[in-house]
Amino acid sequence: MATAISSAQTKNPKRIGVIGAGHVGLVTAACFAELGHRVACMDIDVERVHELGKGNLPFYEPGLQELVLKHASDRLVFTSDYREAVGQADFVFLAVATPTTALGSADLRHVRSAARAVARVAGGKRPILVSKSTAPVGITETLASVLLAESNGDGPLRVVANPEFLREGTAIRDFLEPDRVVLGADDLAARDAVGALYEPLDCPILYTDIKTAEMVKYASNAFLATKISFINEIAEVCEKVGADVRGVARGMGLDPRIGSDFLSAGIGFGGSCLPKDVRALSYLAAVYGSHPQLLNTVLQINEEQRRRLVTRLRNLLGGLRGTRIAVLGLAFKPGTDDIRDAPALDLIRLLEYEEADVRACDPFAIGATQAHFPDISCESDPYLAATDCDAVILATEWPEFRDIDFDRLRAVMRRPVLADGRNAWDPEEARRHGFVYLGMGLPEDASQRQQRVLV
Ligand code: UGA
Repeated sequence: MATAISSAQTKNPKRIGVIGAGHVGLVTAACFAELGHRVACMDIDVERVHELGKGNLPFYEPGLQELVLKHASDRLVFTSDYREAVGQADFVFLAVATPTTALGSADLRHVRSAARAVARVAGGKRPILVSKSTAPVGITETLASVLLAESNGDGPLRVVANPEFLREGTAIRDFLEPDRVVLGADDLAARDAVGALYEPLDCPILYTDIKTAEMVKYASNAFLATKISFINEIAEVCEKVGADVRGVARGMGLDPRIGSDFLSAGIGFGGSCLPKDVRALSYLAAVYGSHPQLLNTVLQINEEQRRRLVTRLRNLLGGLRGTRIAVLGLAFKPGTDDIRDAPALDLIRLLEYEEADVRACDPFAIGATQAHFPDISCESDPYLAATDCDAVILATEWPEFRDIDFDRLRAVMRRPVLADGRNAWDPEEARRHGFVYLGMGLPEDASQRQQRVLV
């Protein structure tokens, strides 16, 4: 991917502390350095900080390592010391993890303890605390009360909610060329000061109250997830009536009120954000006495996508027990090595339950997958993974899998069956190469019915 690097530079460089060197924290730190600010990025994980100092990133994000290396000797430092990140800062961005608890709520312990630590070491400059962690509506006010409890004679630090809209794989571009920046605050001077940091980016800045800003983030992710589950439900109907969901999505997407993005049918959404945020919003709604039926159904449809594909494969192969199945793509989407809540992991669990012999394959995410599933074999080469397999499932549409050589693939497989969980392959071409092809929401054509008998 060609990473867009903004040439815009601030005329008014500030000192910025970023707490948390995860995906959001590191991208925020590197991009503010790119805009000309002096940034100290802090993480309590000493080993991570040590590696970052050498330019080694804990995950893969296109363009990020280049930005870190570009600014590391000058405007960007890494530290595990709160004092170094906060003491001289004008702004402190909180970007620490908010994992899901067993109940489905967001775990806020890290956010609270980080805010407490920031308040304790804040110097005379009284930095503005900017909340970037995705946490339930009300978190920024909770932080404000933590800051109040920790305040000394200088009074509490001021807070601003600034949700992030970074996608893994395009996070640098999303930061430097955003659709919008959302800032929620009660303190208008603090809000305007944070707004000024984003001015060089030339995008709409929406100023709201704190809770509205927090809600924009959850509602945005929930809507994206809803679009995906919607098209997946339509896909199931398409299959039954003999329509093609790809054409349906194109036809719908041409209506600007609908838009064509996030209408790709498949085995559903994964990752560290969409599933977690829809669950957290549903939990929040229920806590306040609402009945979030739509959100719950969005999650249910998403889980069923994986089961549906495995069921169709079982029917086609006449059972899965003892079969050998290759799963191509483990990361939750192409362009990342992140396997959190990845649809492929659900597929592997379902196949293992049915006693199939699973071969997993991904260009970047093998290490992490092996840690989850020590008993399956992992390959980075799709042809090795598919050797002697009864079927290949495409779970993540990496370019190298999209462009696979069908002749070569067919030659190594035991039975020529493709289950395309992302509608990434051309069904006609696959069938011309002798495959039985299962797509998501596509009409079953006559040649396929014929081949099914041969399998
Ligand atoms: C998502 C949002 O897109 C970002 O705007 C947001 O900032 C981010 O979460 C976050 O909360 O931090 P991300 O998790 O990186 O970003 O992934 P997406 O690009 O949204 O994809 C999520 C999943 O949906 C992937 O598994 C993808 O394969 C799936 N998907 C996407 C579909 O199944 N169909 C589609 O049409 C589009």
